[in-house]
Amino acid sequence: MKHNISITKVTESGVKNLDFNNIPLGTTFTDHMFICDYNNGEWTNPRIEPLKAIPTHPAAMALHYGQAIFEGMKATKDADGNPIIFRADKNAARLNASADRMGMPHFPEDLFVEGLKALVSLERNWIPPSEGSALYLRPFMYADEAFIGMRAATSYKFIIMASPAQSLYSKRIKLWAEKQYIRAAQGGTGEAKAAGNYAAAIRPTELAKAKGYDQVLWLDAVERKYIQEVGTMNIFFKINGEFITPKRDGSILDGITRLSVIAILRDKGYEVTERAITINEIQEASKNGTLEEAFGTGTAVGIAYIQEIGVGDEVVHVSDESPVGLEVNNTLNAIKTGQTEDKFNWLITLKKELV
Ligand SMILES: Cc1ncc(COP(=O)(O)O)c(C=O)c1O
Repeated sequence: MKHNISITKVTESGVKNLDFNNIPLGTTFTDHMFICDYNNGEWTNPRIEPLKAIPTHPAAMALHYGQAIFEGMKATKDADGNPIIFRADKNAARLNASADRMGMPHFPEDLFVEGLKALVSLERNWIPPSEGSALYLRPFMYADEAFIGMRAATSYKFIIMASPAQSLYSKRIKLWAEKQYIRAAQGGTGEAKAAGNYAAAIRPTELAKAKGYDQVLWLDAVERKYIQEVGTMNIFFKINGEFITPKRDGSILDGITRLSVIAILRDKGYEVTERAITINEIQEASKNGTLEEAFGTGTAVGIAYIQEIGVGDEVVHVSDESPVGLEVNNTLNAIKTGQTEDKFNWLITLKKELV
């Protein structure tokens, strides 16, 4: 290893208390975390230590001015039990793109990947074995300088935590096309994986759920007609044989599943176009029978098949089945579990214990 990551291990692992058939969502954490401090213009003291609460000064700048960004990724296992990490380089690069937008320092991308590999290697027994489950990895960075005043902080923490997770949606989902609230405007922070974007989405998502929908379908900030993305997913529509996904315009997240699905679809011979697409076009395609299927893509869920979209008083029927979505999901899962050739070179497989 190029970087010197110091390791302090727990005396006894908590994994023996985990029932892999019944993992509580988002509340189970592995034994350790990777942590690194930023002071005086450099990242220092990369280490793995037992996961514990970190004392926070009430003036910590992340709490007031929101310099907080994160990533989400997953580790799975191959048939021999070796941990697999999916496209870690992309998450490392996206964290730094988010850091740029939020006035935060870059985290060295090679140290991001090395820290991740060391942590996953150490926590390999926490990776759930069943299909669709995974060890969710949460790298994040926040400003921990105690200071009242509006400027970029001078001290930060970068941490990676891990949490075992079962697969999320198996049912087909219903989306609410949101015309009152927006997620992101051109020139805003929509392309950054910044904590504040999620804070702004909480209330509209609660309102959509109260109406019986699963997630919000976000529309553009100006005309409320161009489709952006869904909750924590990007979106794909199949219309008349062609796949369409909103093009990146600075206001949607550059999803790594989105990128991967575009590659898989093209590899299977489907036409995929990245372009602006309006909600009216979807309503029209539903009416004239050319809307064949639609799905959301994201690390947490993989592929989520879309049943219908609420647009004001109208319920737009999408489809009752998603044959291509299912095929892509199976391919993605087969790649992530080493059951099929990694022909895109997306995987890091940890054959030996690293720490
Ligand atoms: C707002 C938003 N859009 C899209 C995605 C999907 O991105 P990825 O495929 O990298 O998980 C996520 C999840 O990270 C998200 O939070």
